[in-house]
Amino acid sequence: MSLKFTPTAPSQLSPSGILDLSPEAGDLIADGLAGLQRSTKTLPSKYFYDKRGSELFETITTLPEYYVTRTELDIMAESASEMGALLGEHGLLIEFGSGSGQKTRELLSALPEPAGCILIDISKSALSGSIEKLEEAFPSLPIFGVCADYTRSLQLPEVGTNAKRRIAYFPGSTLGNFSNHEARVFLQRTAALLGPGGALLLGVDRVKAVGLLERAYDDARGVTAAFNFNLLTQLNANGANFVLDRFRHSAVFNAAESRVEMHLVSQVEQTVELGSATIRFDAGESIRTEMSHKYTLEAIRELAGSADMTLEHHWSDKQDWFSVCYLSCR
Ligand code: AVJ
Repeated sequence: MSLKFTPTAPSQLSPSGILDLSPEAGDLIADGLAGLQRSTKTLPSKYFYDKRGSELFETITTLPEYYVTRTELDIMAESASEMGALLGEHGLLIEFGSGSGQKTRELLSALPEPAGCILIDISKSALSGSIEKLEEAFPSLPIFGVCADYTRSLQLPEVGTNAKRRIAYFPGSTLGNFSNHEARVFLQRTAALLGPGGALLLGVDRVKAVGLLERAYDDARGVTAAFNFNLLTQLNANGANFVLDRFRHSAVFNAAESRVEMHLVSQVEQTVELGSATIRFDAGESIRTEMSHKYTLEAIRELAGSADMTLEHHWSDKQDWFSVCYLSCR
């Protein structure tokens, strides 16, 4: 990610209310090749979410071991009204990654007299779907979409509402999938986008017992394993020749980095053809496919500070497994 940032934008809204910033479609083979040619092999986690991967993720959110989604939804149901009261009137809600929309609806219902809502998503079809659903639930609310990659520099349409403050919402602990550097850059860009007095509601997964963390990413039914293997399936659909059962799924908590890492571990010494390259694996060598950072409140405070934001408040479940944090811009 680059540090460049453009805070304002021309209002080039289509009649459907979508500002299309034409996000670059990722190149799975080129990015995959780059990751696999490093000394520590990686594959980018952003490619998990093709059609099958998105379906598998939806199933993951219902697994007994995967407490993340359920816990965050419970916190929203329990505390949205308190969040709304603290965030105040006439806020313009800006959501990163429109997702299933359930948490956003919860938050919007709780905001007193919201000025409007802007959804940001890389997928135009997901964006249209989310806007439609939200318009149905809030018929008198001005709703806009920005089709963009929110990990890059971003512009907002000048939507002409008389909003008192901008309120960004980044749920799902998706921040955890960023490296620490990427997380800092993201928060700095978000702070610039929000301006002084802006607010960010950030869903983060907390550090907890290692067994709980590892089981959440290695469930008994093997759904998370299938989600992980789907990366290799996608590469094979693009000409690679991974033999899936020569790899195994693994999820380990890396305490030094405070993150769960998903890996695909080569069970044997082998070679795989990808594009024009041959990738060699030692027996036991792994591909890191995802990082999911887990935070202490101190880490959140520190991260917020690096973007000139202050942790004002947090709402957590009884076990402190997950927190929705309210960060304000200085
Ligand atoms: C939705 C990206 C936050 O890191 O917990 C779930 C993705 N990966 N199981 C997470 C995921 C494996 C999830 N995020």
